[in-house]
Amino acid sequence: MTVWVEGATGKAGRRVVRALAAAGVPVRAASRHPGEPHGSVTPVRFDWYDETTWAPALGDAGTLFVKGLDSDDDAAEITTRLIASAPGVRRVVLMSAAGVDRTPAGAPRHALELAVQNSGKRWTILRPNWFLQNFDEDDAVFARALRETDQLYAGSGEARVAFFDTRDLADAAVTVLTGDGHDGRGYTLTGPDSVTFGDVADALAEASGRPLKHLDATPPQHRAHFAASGRPEAWVDHMMHLFELARAGVFSPVTDDFRLLTGKPPRSLAAYAAEVWAAPVR
Ligand SMILES: NC(=O)c1ccc[n+]([C@@H]2O[C@H](COP(=O)([O-])OP(=O)(O)OC[C@H]3O[C@@H](n4cnc5c(N)ncnc54)[C@H](OP(=O)(O)O)[C@@H]3O)[C@@H](O)[C@H]2O)c1
Repeated sequence: MTVWVEGATGKAGRRVVRALAAAGVPVRAASRHPGEPHGSVTPVRFDWYDETTWAPALGDAGTLFVKGLDSDDDAAEITTRLIASAPGVRRVVLMSAAGVDRTPAGAPRHALELAVQNSGKRWTILRPNWFLQNFDEDDAVFARALRETDQLYAGSGEARVAFFDTRDLADAAVTVLTGDGHDGRGYTLTGPDSVTFGDVADALAEASGRPLKHLDATPPQHRAHFAASGRPEAWVDHMMHLFELARAGVFSPVTDDFRLLTGKPPRSLAAYAAEVWAAPVR
């Protein structure tokens, strides 16, 4: 059965696409900038804000892997419309985020989870913790400051986060998308340890040999730093809210869900640092 992967060029989505293709699953890889077809992967143009792209992008897909819009208050309503527009779809796997189920039901990301649960389709929710790949692949979040100024710019204080690797997210997604027994379930996916941003800077510094340091920005400094990335204000608000939750300890619990799903331990910060930061980071 064909799986439609939204966010197919992103940090998580492109690895989900690759892992599904490696498992021999036909994939429709959806984003605004699709590449060339390869193997069982058909890249398709899809824009959440252009409904004329929806039906051609969905094609014959029977299962959706969706992350939804991140910093749009209407994400739940838009995703509901997308799912309703696809009567041939039987299953939806939502990539939500750790802690979302503990926010008020009206909060946009929680409303998105409820929309999927009430869609009338078979559903599963993955709730990964913060991605380790934010440190080397996401310029707006941490990567540019690390690359250009040796600073891990994060107004986190001593907050602990059980960072998770997107390669493990892909394995968890393939397990859920290709297996049975996951309907009506949510899985909170974390790394094996809960660490501070100071620990992250130390681990990346040790692996790379660079003088990387955590810069514990004040909230106004942090807001200005995110705003300078050029991303929309709604995204800046979203990031500031995530750091507020981090300081409240929302992202510190370690779970066993990844091991229960896949039968193997999640990658650690140390493993990620050694694999990715020992070589020059782009
Ligand atoms: N980053 C984290 O630490 C983290 C942790 C847990 C959960 N999450 C969740 O993961 C999601 C983000 O995933 P990610 O980090 O893999 O994404 P990402 O690297 O930021 O990539 C975003 C993806 O969405 C596509 N996209 C952006 N705007 C679009 C639009 N208007 N219409 C269609 N596609 C669009 C982009 O492709 P084009 O630009 O080609 O369209 C790209 O494929 C969020 O929902 C977040 O809540 C993130």
